Order: sequence, then C-alpha cells, then structure tokens
Amino acid sequence: MADTDGLLDARTFQPGRPVADAFHVKGAQAQDWGLQNRLSRIFRPDTGRTVMLAFDHGYFVGPMAGLEQLDVNIAPLVPDADAIMMTRGALRTSIPSHSSAGVVLRASGGPSILRELSDEHLALDIEDAVRLNAAALAIQVFIGGEHESRSVANLARLVDAGQRHGVAVLGVTAVGKDMVRDARYFRLATRISAEMGAHVVKTYYVEEGFETVTASCPVPIIVAGGKKLPELDALTMAYRSIQEGAAGVDMGRNIFQSDHPAAMLAAVRAVVHAGAKPEEAYELFREHSAGHAAS
Ligand code: 5RP
Repeated sequence: MADTDGLLDARTFQPGRPVADAFHVKGAQAQDWGLQNRLSRIFRPDTGRTVMLAFDHGYFVGPMAGLEQLDVNIAPLVPDADAIMMTRGALRTSIPSHSSAGVVLRASGGPSILRELSDEHLALDIEDAVRLNAAALAIQVFIGGEHESRSVANLARLVDAGQRHGVAVLGVTAVGKDMVRDARYFRLATRISAEMGAHVVKTYYVEEGFETVTASCPVPIIVAGGKKLPELDALTMAYRSIQEGAAGVDMGRNIFQSDHPAAMLAAVRAVVHAGAKPEEAYELFREHSAGHAAS
C-alpha cells in the first residue's frame, strides 16, 4: 500500500518565474525535447558553440596523413572535443564507447576520390544511427554539382528520418573543383540546406562577406578547417569565423595534421569558447606543445 500518510501540501510557488531559458541553438526553439537534447550534446549550453573534431575523411580518400590509425591518432583527442564527426565504421572500431563527445555520424557516401564526388547516396539507416546514440547525421550537399538534385533529395530524406527520431542533421557544403568559393555561393548553398531542413550547416570561411553567410542562414553555421595551414593562420580563421557569426568549427586537418594535435585542439577551444584572440591562442598552442615535448 502506498505510504500516503503525512504527505506535505505543495507550498512554494514562484509565479512569474520563467519555466525554462531560451534554447541556445539558433533556429531550434520549436524542435522537440529529444532533438534539442541531442543538439545540446554538440553545442555547449554555456557558450552556444562547438568544437567538433572531424575525421570522416577516410570515407572517400582512405587513410590520410594524421588518420593512419584512428585508435592511435584520434582516440586520445576525443575527450577534448565537444563533438566528433566520423563514419560508423570509425566509431565502432576505434573510439571508446565511454566517450562523452556528441556523436555526428557521416550518413552519405559512394564515390571515392577516383570518381565524381557528387554521386553520393544515403549510406546509413536511421535505426543504426539511434543504436549508436548519434546526436546528428552529416550529409554532403553539392549545390552546383553534377548530382546537385540527388544530394538535396538525400538531405531531405535524412531530415525526414531525423525529425521522426529526434536526431539532428548537419548539411555539409561540398565545394566542387569548379565552384567559386565566395560569400554569394555560400549564402546560396547554406540557405538551401537550412530551408531543406538541416539543423546545422557546415561551410567554409571566406574573407569577404562571411557575416552575410551566417546572417542569412537560419540555423547555426560551423566552419570546416580545410587544408592544413600554419597554426596561427588556422586560429585566425577560426577567430574571424566566430566573430562574424559562426557557432563553432568542424575542424579536421588543421588539428590532426598539426605536429601537436592536442595543443592545437586546446588552442581552438580557447578561440571558440573563451574568445581568445589568435595570438593568445597561438601562445597557448606553443606552451602546450612545449609541455608535451618536455614530458
Ligand atoms: C569531408 C568533411 C570533413 O569532415 C571536413 O571537410 C572537415 O575537415 P577539414 O577541417 O579537414 O576540412 O566533411 O567531406
């Protein structure tokens, strides 16, 4: 029998006190609790930003410098990333299941670098994504590419599945060899992805007019690192991206191809979450790398 004797009457009420704070991820205020919760595994509630470590490159280029052995090169970095972006094969084989980083699974694939890259298909079932506790699914969108329409249709199908299960979708702006990388192109590509339902969009930083790309996209923009740059240049790019409205980075080569990946990850975190200036973050990078060399 339930112990109901002596139940205290409710007596503490605070009328007028808001039930909850506004949700911290742009454009996701109207999403369901599960999807918001998954987005919160990617975007830190205290800063609204993310440092996502991308190492999905093998899905079309095979092993590359810095990704020779994922368990050796990447697994040690995972505790310092807010989110990680990789294939399900990489996750299952090489990343410890006790990791707390938000899981962003590559959900498209098909062609290798030997073929037409826009010829992609969906390459992951939502059921497996849920089994792997994915916070988001990533899919390439080839605006202006040979298989543009199919890639947009792939995105739409993935958003349908994501909405059904409360899993977010990251639209990845893929830039073909012949595409002009300017703000006009990125406004077009990012806006199409968001309008088709992507909850987050990844794109590249451009020096002219990047703030118009972030302003015209109704969901958060995160910035890809691109090819390996000197560390100070990569930190400068990350800094400018954030200042001009990006909600974080989805960085791969500029972290895992650095001579000191852990130090670079710490420096990027300082830029994204603490607003460190590029020179300050670079100093942090140098201190961390010196410490690592000495130990
Ligand atoms: C590959 C990707 C990569 O994850 C993305 O480009 C980020 O990596 P990098 O910083 O090395 O550019 O989406 O298709």
